[in-house]
Order: sequence, then C-alpha cells, then structure tokens
Amino acid sequence: MSQSGVTPELDKITTAVNHPGKKLMESKCYACHNPSTGHEGRIAPPMVAVKSHYMNDETTKEEFIAGVWNFVQKPSKESSKMRGAVKRFGLMPYQPFPQEEIELIADYMYDYKIDEPAWFKEHIEEESKGKMQYRNDGKTEDKADIGLRYALQTKQELGKNLMGTIQKKGTLEAISFCNKKAYPITDSMAVVQNARIRRVSDKPRNPANQASQKELSIITHFKKVIASDEDYEPVTEIVDDKVNFYYPITTNAMCLQCHGTPTIDIEPAVLSSIKNLYPTDKAVGYNVNEVRGIWSISYEN
Ligand code: HEC
Ligand code: HEC
Repeated sequence: MSQSGVTPELDKITTAVNHPGKKLMESKCYACHNPSTGHEGRIAPPMVAVKSHYMNDETTKEEFIAGVWNFVQKPSKESSKMRGAVKRFGLMPYQPFPQEEIELIADYMYDYKIDEPAWFKEHIEEESKGKMQYRNDGKTEDKADIGLRYALQTKQELGKNLMGTIQKKGTLEAISFCNKKAYPITDSMAVVQNARIRRVSDKPRNPANQASQKELSIITHFKKVIASDEDYEPVTEIVDDKVNFYYPITTNAMCLQCHGTPTIDIEPAVLSSIKNLYPTDKAVGYNVNEVRGIWSISYEN
C-alpha cells in the first residue's frame, strides 16, 4: 500500500475517492464529458465512452495513458478512435492541458471504475451492434475506503480550522478552539455522513476521549508498527450490521505546541490554560511521529 519504510499519512493513501486524477477529471473534463447529462442533451461523449474506446483486454496502463495524451495534445480526425463522436459532436477543441494532468486523469481512468450514465452500457452495445465492448473495470470504493474518507474529511476540516486559528490568533486562543470547536466539527461531519466519528486516546486530554479496552489494544498495535517504521493499514472489523474502522493519529511539529514537553515545547501560558480547562490532562510529553490516538469510526455496513 505504500513504499517500504514510509509510514502512510492518511491523505497520502490513494483511494477511489482521493486520487488526484479524479478531481482533475471533474474540474477539467466534465464541462463537456460529464456523466450526468442524458444522451440527448450532450455536447461530448461521457468519459466512460472514451475509456471503452481506448482500452481492450491487452491494453497496458502505459499504452492507455499514452493514447489519451496523444489525442489530447493535438486532437485530430486522424488520431481519433471515436469517429462516431467526431461526426456527432465535432472534433474536440484543442485546449492547452499540461501533460502531467492528463497522465493523472488517465491513470485514474485506468485503475478505477469511473462514474457513468445509467444509459451508457446498453447504448454502446446497441449502437455498435456488439462490436464495441463496454469497459469500466477497476477498483471501487470499499468498506475501508469509506472509513478513510470520513477520517480524511474530518481531519482536513479540523486541521484547516486549527491551523487557521493558530495563524490568526495564536496558540493560546487555539486551545479554546480545540476545546469548544473540535466536538461540534466532528459531530456535524458525523451527522452528514451518518457515522459516529471519534478521536480517542490512551492518554486523553479530555477524559471523554478515553479509549475503550478494544481501542487501547488497537493503539498498542499502531504504536508498535509506527515505532518500527513498518507500513500500516487501517484496522476494520464488521460487527453485526456495523463497520468499525480504526486509524492512527500521529503527531507532527505543530502538535507539540500543545502536546509536547511542558516549557520546552509548550509555552507556560498555554500550559496553564490547558491545565485550567483539563485538570486531568494526560496528553503531553509527545514527540513528532508518535501515536497521539486513533480515529474510531463506525458506520452502517
Ligand atoms: C470543451 C469541451 C471538451 C472538454 C473540456 C474536453 N473534451 Fe474531450 N472531447 C470533446 C468532444 C466534443 C469529443 C468528441 C469528439 C472527438 O472525439 O474529438 C471529445 C473526445 C475526447 C477523447 C476521444 C477522442 C477520440 O476521438 O478518439 C478523449 C481521449 C478526450 N476527449 C479527452 C479529454 C480529456 C482528458 C479532457 C479533460 C482534460 C477533455 N477531453 C476535455 C470535448 C471536450
Ligand atoms: C492549540 C493547541 C492544540 C494543538 C496545536 C493541537 N491540539 Fe490536540 N488537543 C488540544 C485540546 C485542547 C484537546 C482537547 C479537545 C477536547 O476537549 O475534546 C485536544 C485533543 C486532541 C485529541 C483527542 C484526544 C484527547 O487527548 O482528548 C487528539 C487525538 C489530538 N488532540 C491530536 C492532536 C494532533 C495530532 C495535533 C497536531 C496535528 C494536535 N492535537 C494539535 C489542543 C491542541
């Protein structure tokens, strides 16, 4: 899942939902190639039609990427593999897309099942009288990806707000942000996503974030793999109709302002404010790249 010896940061794990090619395709190609317009109102074929025409059983990823780039860098009738589309829509207008972006988009299209219109599959086989094969294979979002997406979105939301508060108002003010805002943010994410999202720890600052027995054993597991620099993956388990998802929360330099060593990393004023709000605080003494806690997320199976 990641290069050996490198601990995968949550947002570096590529899944169906956060592949950079997906976002590029949506922002650069969907103006014309979107999957939601009906068959009649279209101005270009949906991306799944391009995928179906540019791939057969033998096509390697390199060939697919090169094929898409070859057309996009200089659209022409000669290099077209979709003569029917050229006839119906006119040739794709040339647009100066950077090669790296097209390669990421094609990489995503090759590896993943992409969004497609409901009418497409039947249409392509009918239209071509069975000559053209529908293709949209590839990975889809699985149970662990859903947990990762929740964790990633919550983390981004929290991180953005925390960083912004530290920059605009300083660390001291940011404590009350963590105190008052962390909960409503994780809560509102949870409501939107119909999931229960918690951050729990073996050394909680807020006693409400104390890890359960089960969660403690998972924290121990992640501490071991992270300390020895091994690769790790989320832990997911299915209990009845629920998926429980666990993923480590590790420290970086920014965290030490509030979770590092008192007086060395944590300023006295910050420390006393923390002590005030959290008399039983255990969440200090951390260094970078340590397990501060875990995401504990559960959602319907
Ligand atoms: C302004 C509208 C527009 C945008 C934006 C657009 N396309 Fe197209 N594209 C078309 C049309 C129209 C066709 C069908 C006619 C054709 O094949 O030239 C097409 C066809 C294609 C084809 C198949 C060409 C063939 O005939 O073999 C590829 C590959 C393609 N587009 C890639 C892309 C990618 C990748 C993006 C985004 C980076 C993109 N297009 C953005 C209009 C667009
Ligand atoms: C500005 C100070 C501040 C910074 C910077 C900060 N935290 Fe916290 N952290 C807090 C406070 C305050 C709480 C308690 C929030 C609550 O009441 O739920 C907390 C709680 C947590 C919790 C929930 C478990 C617990 O101990 O209650 C985790 C996990 C956590 N922080 C991780 C991090 C990580 C990882 C970073 C760096 C990316 C970080 N924090 C940066 C102040 C901070």
